[in-house]
Amino acid sequence: MSSEPVPQWQVVDAGWGRAAVEFATLAEPGNCREYVAMHLRLGVGPGDRLLDVACGAGLAVELAALRGARCAGIDASERLVAVARDRNPGHDLRVGDMLALPWADRSFDVVTSFRGIWGTTPDALDEVRRVLAPGGLVGLTVWGHLKPAPGSWVLAPFRLAAPPQIDHQAAMVSLGRPGIGDELLERHGFVDVERVDIPFVWEFADPAAYARAITSMGPAHEAIANVGEEQFVATAIEVAERRVRAGLPLRAELPVVGLVARRPRPTRASPPTGHLDVDAAPGPAVERFHEQCAEAVGFVMNTARVWSRLPGEHDRLFELLDDVARVARLTFRQRGILVTACASRLGDSYCALAWGRKLADHSGPDVAVSVLRGVDDALDTSERALASWARHVAGEPNTTTADDLDQLRDAGYDDTQILAITLYVGLRIAFSSVNDALGIQPDREFDDGGPVQAAVDFGRRIATCR
Ligand SMILES: C[S@@+](CC[C@H](N)C(=O)[O-])C[C@H]1O[C@@H](n2cnc3c(N)ncnc32)[C@H](O)[C@@H]1O
Repeated sequence: MSSEPVPQWQVVDAGWGRAAVEFATLAEPGNCREYVAMHLRLGVGPGDRLLDVACGAGLAVELAALRGARCAGIDASERLVAVARDRNPGHDLRVGDMLALPWADRSFDVVTSFRGIWGTTPDALDEVRRVLAPGGLVGLTVWGHLKPAPGSWVLAPFRLAAPPQIDHQAAMVSLGRPGIGDELLERHGFVDVERVDIPFVWEFADPAAYARAITSMGPAHEAIANVGEEQFVATAIEVAERRVRAGLPLRAELPVVGLVARRPRPTRASPPTGHLDVDAAPGPAVERFHEQCAEAVGFVMNTARVWSRLPGEHDRLFELLDDVARVARLTFRQRGILVTACASRLGDSYCALAWGRKLADHSGPDVAVSVLRGVDDALDTSERALASWARHVAGEPNTTTADDLDQLRDAGYDDTQILAITLYVGLRIAFSSVNDALGIQPDREFDDGGPVQAAVDFGRRIATCR
């Protein structure tokens, strides 16, 4: 009869779960500085979906939950997870293997692992990357260079394990060496990898308390299997007695390296129609909308392709603009001046090119260029008042004064017209802002090498493709 080998993660509880209550109460609280420092560095905050890998008895999860995160945790030790669940009711704590995380892709904004992912378990990083949302952060801690550290006495009893186990422990801590963990994260598809300083100190009341705490940790299991518990505890007490300080706790500062990295966001070249998916809703209404645009200007503009998701709203906005222009008794040339002045002040190359060309066709390129460049030397006094009002409304509407309105009154506009002119500019600002915010590029048809194009040296570039 053939028996399947037991997966590695299923034997972990024998070591780490053996003294779960002691570990949770005598050992794990000593790690709190590490947890707090990493949560701070990652900016863990309310609403973040956080996963702690190899969560042990769940103290790090508890501290993240106190910052408002919605937490999950996983550990191979059933008995440690029982404590983690007891500490974190309402959060999602599971027994399982870090190499097969039982969560869907992109489930978390932040993944932490405190000395849980080792040189011997690098493939866990693929799982971490999978469950992180694009742009999400991972924060790992690993042991630094332990040997020369003054606090390394605290780990000395673990060296009572058999030589193969000691070799394995050395391989486990390899990630802390300069460049190794960083390079591993990059190899597993993370970006913006950074090393961060993590404070880490264990303190104990006396040698007996230290011996009890260290005996509860996983690696003690291997040492005890080799030399027996009595010798393990005697060794622990002996090393600790040499460190006793009158009136102060036993204290061991240990080097811990923090590694922070990000799952990259997918980068895609922005199409000329910007960031929205424009082809998601084709149909007769969209076709009609495109045809109207093509009839008016000779081609389907990128703005029309984007606004075809809301053709009715687009048409109502332009009907309102026409109504308001009628109330203000604006000529075509005056509208052109208002739109080009407003668009150039906003840095909106799309409307500046579209209306700059219309104004140039109607009144000559010198008029269009003078408004686009903010010179206005091709305008008469009343047109200058319009252009300067449009720029003021688009740039700094909270600094206008009664004197500014007097300039419009002096130019012959009554107060109803002034309100309508201002509303006209406000509606144009809305249209420009929506198009620019959605990343719409001016159509390649605007690329004619003419004077209007030369004057529009701001904003989004003309598209090179359709
Ligand atoms: C050094 S402890 C760290 C525990 C906890 N993060 C802390 O800060 O105390 C390593 C943890 O990894 C867990 N572990 C080991 N192998 C695992 C695996 N394959 N999947 C999940 N957890 C594992 C152990 O049960 C143990 O709780």
